[in-house]
Amino acid sequence: MPKMETADIETELSLFKYDDVEQLPETYRGLSEEERTERIAAAKAELGDDVVILGHNYQRREIVEHADSVGDSYQLSVEAAEADAEYVVFGGVTFMAESADIITGDDQTVLLPSMEASCPMAGMAEALQVDAAWAEITDAAPDAEIVPVTYMNSYADLKAFCAEQGGAVCTSSNAHDVFEWALDRGDKVLFLPDKHLGENTAHRLGMADEIAEWDPWDPAGKSAAEVAAADIVLWDGYCQVHERFGADHVERIRDDHPEAEVVVHPECRREVVEAADVAGSTSTITRTIEAADPGETWAVGTEIHLVNHLQRWHPEVNVVPLCGEACMDCNAMRQIDPNYLTWVLEELVAGRERNVVEVPPREAKLANAAMERMLEL
Ligand code: 13P
Ligand code: SF4
Repeated sequence: MPKMETADIETELSLFKYDDVEQLPETYRGLSEEERTERIAAAKAELGDDVVILGHNYQRREIVEHADSVGDSYQLSVEAAEADAEYVVFGGVTFMAESADIITGDDQTVLLPSMEASCPMAGMAEALQVDAAWAEITDAAPDAEIVPVTYMNSYADLKAFCAEQGGAVCTSSNAHDVFEWALDRGDKVLFLPDKHLGENTAHRLGMADEIAEWDPWDPAGKSAAEVAAADIVLWDGYCQVHERFGADHVERIRDDHPEAEVVVHPECRREVVEAADVAGSTSTITRTIEAADPGETWAVGTEIHLVNHLQRWHPEVNVVPLCGEACMDCNAMRQIDPNYLTWVLEELVAGRERNVVEVPPREAKLANAAMERMLEL
Protein backbone atom coordinates (compact mmCIF):
# COMPACT_ATOMS: atom_id res chain seq x y z
CA MET A 1 0.00 0.00 0.00
CA PRO A 2 1.38 3.47 -0.83
CA LYS A 3 2.51 5.59 2.12
CA MET A 4 1.74 9.29 2.42
CA GLU A 5 4.60 11.76 2.10
CA THR A 6 3.55 14.17 4.87
CA ALA A 7 1.65 11.90 7.30
CA ASP A 8 2.32 8.52 8.83
CA ILE A 9 -0.59 6.85 7.04
CA GLU A 10 -0.74 4.08 4.46
CA THR A 11 -3.51 4.50 1.97
CA GLU A 12 -5.05 3.40 -1.29
CA LEU A 13 -6.87 5.14 -4.13
CA SER A 14 -10.64 5.00 -3.63
CA LEU A 15 -11.02 2.97 -6.81
CA PHE A 16 -9.27 0.08 -5.08
CA LYS A 17 -10.71 0.54 -1.58
CA TYR A 18 -13.96 -1.28 -2.22
CA ASP A 19 -13.12 -3.33 -5.28
CA ASP A 20 -14.11 -6.60 -3.58
CA VAL A 21 -17.60 -6.15 -5.00
CA GLU A 22 -19.80 -9.12 -4.17
CA GLN A 23 -22.27 -9.47 -7.00
CA LEU A 24 -25.91 -10.15 -6.33
CA PRO A 25 -26.69 -13.86 -6.87
CA GLU A 26 -28.87 -14.58 -9.88
CA THR A 27 -31.75 -15.82 -7.69
CA TYR A 28 -32.10 -12.33 -6.15
CA ARG A 29 -32.49 -10.50 -9.43
CA GLY A 30 -35.97 -9.45 -10.45
CA LEU A 31 -37.78 -10.12 -7.15
CA SER A 32 -41.21 -8.50 -7.08
CA GLU A 33 -41.75 -5.74 -4.52
CA GLU A 34 -44.32 -7.89 -2.73
CA GLU A 35 -41.99 -10.87 -2.40
CA ARG A 36 -39.08 -8.66 -1.37
CA THR A 37 -41.12 -6.88 1.30
CA GLU A 38 -42.19 -10.22 2.81
CA ARG A 39 -38.66 -11.62 2.76
CA ILE A 40 -37.08 -8.48 4.26
CA ALA A 41 -39.71 -8.44 7.03
CA ALA A 42 -39.09 -12.15 7.73
CA ALA A 43 -35.30 -11.67 7.87
CA LYS A 44 -35.67 -8.63 10.16
CA ALA A 45 -37.98 -10.60 12.47
CA GLU A 46 -35.47 -13.47 12.58
CA LEU A 47 -32.51 -11.14 13.31
CA GLY A 48 -34.47 -9.04 15.84
CA ASP A 49 -32.30 -6.65 17.87
CA ASP A 50 -29.13 -8.01 16.25
CA VAL A 51 -29.63 -5.77 13.23
CA VAL A 52 -30.47 -2.15 12.58
CA ILE A 53 -31.15 -0.80 9.09
CA LEU A 54 -30.23 2.84 8.46
CA GLY A 55 -31.35 4.78 5.40
CA HIS A 56 -29.92 8.08 4.22
CA ASN A 57 -32.52 10.66 3.13
CA TYR A 58 -31.46 10.14 -0.52
CA GLN A 59 -32.24 6.44 -0.59
CA ARG A 60 -35.12 5.26 -2.73
CA ARG A 61 -38.54 4.59 -1.21
CA GLU A 62 -38.05 0.79 -1.23
CA ILE A 63 -35.03 1.17 1.09
CA VAL A 64 -36.34 3.97 3.30
CA GLU A 65 -39.53 2.01 4.00
CA HIS A 66 -37.50 -0.83 5.53
CA ALA A 67 -35.15 1.42 7.52
CA ASP A 68 -35.31 1.66 11.31
CA SER A 69 -33.95 5.21 11.04
CA VAL A 70 -33.84 7.68 8.17
CA GLY A 71 -31.69 10.80 8.37
CA ASP A 72 -28.62 12.75 7.32
CA SER A 73 -25.15 11.30 7.04
CA TYR A 74 -23.83 12.39 10.41
CA GLN A 75 -27.01 11.65 12.39
CA LEU A 76 -27.12 8.09 11.02
CA SER A 77 -23.56 7.37 12.19
CA VAL A 78 -24.50 8.51 15.68
CA GLU A 79 -27.60 6.32 15.59
CA ALA A 80 -25.43 3.38 14.52
CA ALA A 81 -23.21 3.91 17.57
CA GLU A 82 -26.17 4.29 19.91
CA ALA A 83 -27.90 1.16 18.60
CA ASP A 84 -27.15 -2.01 20.49
CA ALA A 85 -27.29 -4.03 17.30
CA GLU A 86 -24.40 -6.29 16.31
CA TYR A 87 -25.05 -5.55 12.63
CA VAL A 88 -25.61 -2.14 11.07
CA VAL A 89 -26.89 -2.40 7.50
CA PHE A 90 -26.27 1.02 5.97
CA GLY A 91 -28.41 2.32 3.12
CA GLY A 92 -26.04 5.03 1.94
CA VAL A 93 -22.64 5.43 0.29
CA THR A 94 -19.19 4.10 1.22
CA PHE A 95 -17.96 7.17 3.14
CA MET A 96 -21.10 7.05 5.32
CA ALA A 97 -20.61 3.34 6.07
CA GLU A 98 -16.95 4.11 6.93
CA SER A 99 -18.05 6.87 9.34
CA ALA A 100 -20.50 4.45 10.95
CA ASP A 101 -17.73 1.85 11.31
CA ILE A 102 -15.43 4.46 12.90
CA ILE A 103 -18.05 5.57 15.43
CA THR A 104 -19.48 2.14 16.31
CA GLY A 105 -17.90 -0.22 18.83
CA ASP A 106 -15.51 -3.08 17.98
CA ASP A 107 -18.33 -5.54 18.58
CA GLN A 108 -20.45 -4.01 15.81
CA THR A 109 -20.17 -4.77 12.10
CA VAL A 110 -21.24 -2.37 9.35
CA LEU A 111 -22.49 -3.74 6.05
CA LEU A 112 -23.16 -1.80 2.86
CA PRO A 113 -25.58 -3.76 0.64
CA SER A 114 -23.68 -2.77 -2.52
CA MET A 115 -20.00 -1.77 -2.56
CA GLU A 116 -20.60 0.13 -5.80
CA ALA A 117 -22.27 2.96 -3.90
CA SER A 118 -19.33 5.41 -3.90
CA CYS A 119 -19.88 9.17 -3.73
CA PRO A 120 -18.08 10.77 -6.72
CA MET A 121 -17.39 13.94 -4.73
CA ALA A 122 -15.58 12.00 -1.98
CA GLY A 123 -13.48 10.42 -4.76
CA MET A 124 -12.45 13.89 -6.01
CA ALA A 125 -10.10 14.32 -3.03
CA GLU A 126 -7.96 11.19 -2.94
CA ALA A 127 -5.85 11.22 0.24
CA LEU A 128 -2.67 10.62 -1.79
CA GLN A 129 -3.46 13.59 -4.02
CA VAL A 130 -4.21 15.81 -1.00
CA ASP A 131 -0.97 14.69 0.64
CA ALA A 132 1.01 15.78 -2.44
CA ALA A 133 -0.85 19.12 -2.61
CA TRP A 134 -0.28 19.66 1.12
CA ALA A 135 3.48 19.27 0.62
CA GLU A 136 3.43 21.91 -2.16
CA ILE A 137 1.14 24.41 -0.43
CA THR A 138 2.85 24.22 2.97
CA ASP A 139 6.25 24.61 1.28
CA ALA A 140 4.96 27.75 -0.43
CA ALA A 141 3.83 29.23 2.93
CA PRO A 142 6.48 28.06 5.42
CA ASP A 143 5.53 30.67 8.04
CA ALA A 144 1.79 30.06 7.95
CA GLU A 145 -0.16 27.57 10.05
CA ILE A 146 -2.58 25.88 7.64
CA VAL A 147 -5.40 23.83 9.17
CA PRO A 148 -7.01 21.17 6.95
CA VAL A 149 -10.75 20.67 7.32
CA THR A 150 -12.60 17.93 5.50
CA TYR A 151 -16.31 17.58 4.96
CA MET A 152 -17.98 14.36 6.20
CA ASN A 153 -18.29 13.49 2.49
CA SER A 154 -14.74 12.17 2.28
CA TYR A 155 -12.99 8.85 2.80
CA ALA A 156 -11.66 7.82 6.20
CA ASP A 157 -8.02 8.15 5.11
CA LEU A 158 -8.56 11.84 4.34
CA LYS A 159 -10.25 12.34 7.72
CA ALA A 160 -7.22 10.59 9.27
CA PHE A 161 -4.85 12.85 7.30
CA CYS A 162 -6.66 15.94 8.64
CA ALA A 163 -6.33 14.64 12.20
CA GLU A 164 -2.59 14.07 11.74
CA GLN A 165 -2.14 17.60 10.40
CA GLY A 166 -4.04 19.17 13.30
CA GLY A 167 -7.34 19.60 11.45
CA ALA A 168 -10.91 18.40 11.82
CA VAL A 169 -14.04 17.14 10.09
CA CYS A 170 -17.21 19.18 9.55
CA THR A 171 -20.76 18.58 8.35
CA SER A 172 -22.89 20.90 6.24
CA SER A 173 -24.55 22.10 9.48
CA ASN A 174 -21.44 23.09 11.40
CA ALA A 175 -18.90 24.05 8.69
CA HIS A 176 -18.89 27.70 9.87
CA ASP A 177 -18.12 26.68 13.50
CA VAL A 178 -15.30 24.42 12.35
CA PHE A 179 -13.87 27.14 10.05
CA GLU A 180 -13.91 29.60 12.99
CA TRP A 181 -12.16 27.04 15.19
CA ALA A 182 -9.55 26.39 12.47
CA LEU A 183 -8.90 30.11 11.96
CA ASP A 184 -8.44 30.55 15.73
CA ARG A 185 -5.99 27.71 15.75
CA GLY A 186 -4.06 28.72 12.62
CA ASP A 187 -3.79 31.31 9.87
CA LYS A 188 -5.42 29.55 6.93
CA VAL A 189 -7.89 26.77 6.16
CA LEU A 190 -7.55 24.13 3.45
CA PHE A 191 -11.08 22.85 2.89
CA LEU A 192 -11.86 19.57 1.11
CA PRO A 193 -13.49 18.33 -1.07
CA ASP A 194 -16.55 20.53 -1.75
CA LYS A 195 -15.67 23.99 -3.09
CA HIS A 196 -19.30 25.12 -2.97
CA LEU A 197 -19.81 24.32 0.72
CA GLY A 198 -16.43 25.99 1.33
CA GLU A 199 -17.39 29.10 -0.61
CA ASN A 200 -20.81 29.31 1.07
CA THR A 201 -19.13 29.03 4.47
CA ALA A 202 -16.51 31.67 3.66
CA HIS A 203 -19.33 34.06 2.60
CA ARG A 204 -21.18 33.40 5.83
CA LEU A 205 -18.01 34.35 7.73
CA GLY A 206 -17.53 37.53 5.66
CA MET A 207 -14.40 36.07 4.04
CA ALA A 208 -15.55 35.98 0.40
CA ASP A 209 -12.47 37.93 -0.71
CA GLU A 210 -10.05 35.58 1.01
CA ILE A 211 -10.71 32.53 -1.20
CA ALA A 212 -8.40 30.73 -3.63
CA GLU A 213 -9.18 27.47 -5.41
CA TRP A 214 -6.71 24.63 -5.73
CA ASP A 215 -7.35 22.60 -8.85
CA PRO A 216 -5.30 19.40 -8.63
CA TRP A 217 -6.17 18.48 -12.21
CA ASP A 218 -5.09 21.72 -13.88
CA PRO A 219 -1.34 22.21 -14.15
CA ALA A 220 -2.04 25.67 -15.62
CA GLY A 221 -4.17 26.63 -12.61
CA LYS A 222 -3.04 28.76 -9.67
CA SER A 223 0.44 28.00 -8.35
CA ALA A 224 0.99 26.82 -4.77
CA ALA A 225 2.38 30.29 -3.91
CA GLU A 226 -0.72 32.06 -5.28
CA VAL A 227 -3.05 29.70 -3.44
CA ALA A 228 -1.07 29.89 -0.22
CA ALA A 229 -1.49 33.67 -0.20
CA ALA A 230 -5.24 33.24 0.48
CA ASP A 231 -6.73 32.52 3.91
CA ILE A 232 -9.29 30.03 2.62
CA VAL A 233 -8.03 27.44 0.15
CA LEU A 234 -10.78 25.41 -1.50
CA TRP A 235 -10.17 22.04 -3.13
CA ASP A 236 -11.86 21.96 -6.51
CA GLY A 237 -14.40 19.20 -5.77
CA TYR A 238 -18.17 19.36 -6.20
CA CYS A 239 -21.34 17.28 -6.20
CA GLN A 240 -22.79 16.95 -9.67
CA VAL A 241 -26.31 16.54 -8.28
CA HIS A 242 -26.20 19.92 -6.52
CA GLU A 243 -24.01 21.77 -9.01
CA ARG A 244 -26.81 21.38 -11.52
CA PHE A 245 -28.98 23.98 -9.77
CA GLY A 246 -28.64 27.56 -11.00
CA ALA A 247 -29.94 30.95 -9.86
CA ASP A 248 -32.25 30.85 -12.93
CA HIS A 249 -34.09 27.89 -11.34
CA VAL A 250 -34.80 29.99 -8.26
CA GLU A 251 -35.94 32.91 -10.46
CA ARG A 252 -38.26 30.64 -12.45
CA ILE A 253 -39.80 29.22 -9.26
CA ARG A 254 -40.38 32.74 -7.95
CA ASP A 255 -42.10 33.64 -11.26
CA ASP A 256 -44.20 30.47 -11.45
CA HIS A 257 -45.00 30.26 -7.71
CA PRO A 258 -44.72 33.77 -6.24
CA GLU A 259 -45.90 32.39 -2.89
CA ALA A 260 -43.14 29.72 -2.75
CA GLU A 261 -40.17 29.65 -0.42
CA VAL A 262 -36.95 27.94 -1.42
CA VAL A 263 -34.77 25.56 0.61
CA VAL A 264 -31.49 24.16 -0.76
CA HIS A 265 -28.51 22.07 0.33
CA PRO A 266 -25.27 24.08 0.86
CA GLU A 267 -23.51 21.88 -1.72
CA CYS A 268 -25.32 24.13 -4.25
CA ARG A 269 -23.46 26.99 -5.94
CA ARG A 270 -23.06 30.28 -4.07
CA GLU A 271 -25.63 32.17 -6.20
CA VAL A 272 -28.26 29.47 -5.53
CA VAL A 273 -27.71 29.52 -1.77
CA GLU A 274 -27.81 33.32 -1.84
CA ALA A 275 -31.12 33.35 -3.76
CA ALA A 276 -32.73 30.70 -1.48
CA ASP A 277 -34.63 31.40 1.75
CA VAL A 278 -33.06 28.53 3.72
CA ALA A 279 -29.91 26.42 3.18
CA GLY A 280 -28.95 23.39 5.25
CA SER A 281 -28.26 19.68 5.53
CA THR A 282 -30.78 17.07 4.46
CA SER A 283 -32.08 17.09 8.07
CA THR A 284 -32.51 20.86 7.97
CA ILE A 285 -34.40 20.52 4.69
CA THR A 286 -36.64 17.82 6.21
CA ARG A 287 -37.28 19.86 9.36
CA THR A 288 -38.12 22.93 7.26
CA ILE A 289 -40.87 21.06 5.44
CA GLU A 290 -42.08 19.45 8.70
CA ALA A 291 -42.46 22.91 10.20
CA ALA A 292 -44.28 24.39 7.18
CA ASP A 293 -47.95 25.30 7.57
CA PRO A 294 -50.52 23.38 5.50
CA GLY A 295 -50.96 24.96 2.08
CA GLU A 296 -47.47 26.53 1.99
CA THR A 297 -45.36 25.98 -1.14
CA TRP A 298 -41.70 25.03 -0.82
CA ALA A 299 -39.29 24.50 -3.69
CA VAL A 300 -36.57 22.07 -2.66
CA GLY A 301 -33.09 22.07 -4.24
CA THR A 302 -31.53 18.73 -3.48
CA GLU A 303 -31.43 15.09 -4.60
CA ILE A 304 -34.76 14.07 -6.11
CA HIS A 305 -35.51 11.06 -3.86
CA LEU A 306 -35.62 13.31 -0.80
CA VAL A 307 -37.93 15.72 -2.64
CA ASN A 308 -40.23 12.79 -3.46
CA HIS A 309 -40.14 11.52 0.16
CA LEU A 310 -41.06 14.98 1.42
CA GLN A 311 -44.03 15.08 -0.97
CA ARG A 312 -45.21 11.69 0.37
CA TRP A 313 -44.50 12.45 4.04
CA HIS A 314 -46.12 15.93 3.94
CA PRO A 315 -49.05 15.94 1.54
CA GLU A 316 -50.37 19.02 3.37
CA VAL A 317 -47.43 21.06 2.02
CA ASN A 318 -46.96 21.81 -1.67
CA VAL A 319 -43.39 20.50 -2.20
CA VAL A 320 -41.95 21.15 -5.68
CA PRO A 321 -38.53 20.20 -7.08
CA LEU A 322 -36.41 23.31 -7.64
CA CYS A 323 -35.53 22.45 -11.23
CA GLY A 324 -38.60 20.45 -12.20
CA GLU A 325 -37.98 17.43 -14.42
CA ALA A 326 -34.26 18.22 -14.58
CA CYS A 327 -33.67 17.40 -10.87
CA MET A 328 -31.32 14.46 -10.51
CA ASP A 329 -31.01 11.40 -8.40
CA CYS A 330 -27.59 10.49 -6.99
CA ASN A 331 -26.19 7.62 -9.01
CA ALA A 332 -24.10 6.43 -6.04
CA MET A 333 -27.10 6.27 -3.71
CA ARG A 334 -29.04 4.48 -6.45
CA GLN A 335 -26.64 1.52 -6.28
CA ILE A 336 -28.34 0.37 -3.07
CA ASP A 337 -30.89 -1.81 -4.76
CA PRO A 338 -33.60 -3.35 -2.55
CA ASN A 339 -32.70 -6.81 -3.93
CA TYR A 340 -29.22 -6.31 -2.42
CA LEU A 341 -30.83 -5.41 0.89
CA THR A 342 -32.85 -8.65 0.81
CA TRP A 343 -29.71 -10.65 0.02
CA VAL A 344 -27.52 -9.07 2.72
CA LEU A 345 -30.23 -9.63 5.38
CA GLU A 346 -30.93 -13.24 4.35
CA GLU A 347 -27.20 -13.97 4.34
CA LEU A 348 -26.98 -12.64 7.91
CA VAL A 349 -29.81 -14.99 8.89
CA ALA A 350 -27.73 -17.80 7.37
CA GLY A 351 -24.72 -16.66 9.45
CA ARG A 352 -22.76 -15.06 6.58
CA GLU A 353 -21.56 -11.43 6.54
CA ARG A 354 -21.56 -9.81 3.08
CA ASN A 355 -20.02 -6.50 2.02
CA VAL A 356 -18.50 -5.54 5.36
CA VAL A 357 -16.99 -2.04 5.55
CA GLU A 358 -14.04 -2.01 7.91
CA VAL A 359 -11.66 0.93 8.26
CA PRO A 360 -8.08 -0.12 9.24
CA PRO A 361 -7.58 0.48 13.02
CA ARG A 362 -4.97 3.27 12.90
CA GLU A 363 -6.89 5.17 10.22
CA ALA A 364 -10.12 4.69 12.17
CA LYS A 365 -8.55 6.01 15.39
CA LEU A 366 -7.24 9.15 13.68
CA ALA A 367 -10.45 9.75 11.72
CA ASN A 368 -12.41 9.39 14.94
CA ALA A 369 -10.18 12.01 16.57
CA ALA A 370 -10.94 14.42 13.69
CA MET A 371 -14.68 13.82 14.14
CA GLU A 372 -14.43 14.22 17.93
CA ARG A 373 -12.69 17.57 17.45
CA MET A 374 -15.76 18.70 15.55
CA LEU A 375 -18.09 17.44 18.30
CA GLU A 376 -16.20 19.34 20.98
CA LEU A 377 -17.03 22.68 19.33
P1 13P B 1 -26.26 15.38 4.49
O1 13P B 1 -25.06 15.24 5.35
O2 13P B 1 -26.88 16.73 4.56
O3 13P B 1 -27.22 14.26 4.73
O4 13P B 1 -25.79 15.30 2.97
C1 13P B 1 -25.10 14.22 2.49
C2 13P B 1 -24.91 14.33 1.05
O5 13P B 1 -24.38 13.44 0.45
C3 13P B 1 -25.35 15.54 0.38
O6 13P B 1 -25.13 15.41 -0.98
FE1 SF4 C 1 -22.08 12.41 -3.10
FE2 SF4 C 1 -23.58 14.30 -4.25
FE3 SF4 C 1 -24.47 11.80 -4.04
FE4 SF4 C 1 -24.26 13.36 -1.88
S1 SF4 C 1 -25.62 13.64 -3.64
S2 SF4 C 1 -23.63 11.20 -2.03
S3 SF4 C 1 -22.38 14.49 -2.39
S4 SF4 C 1 -22.70 12.50 -5.24
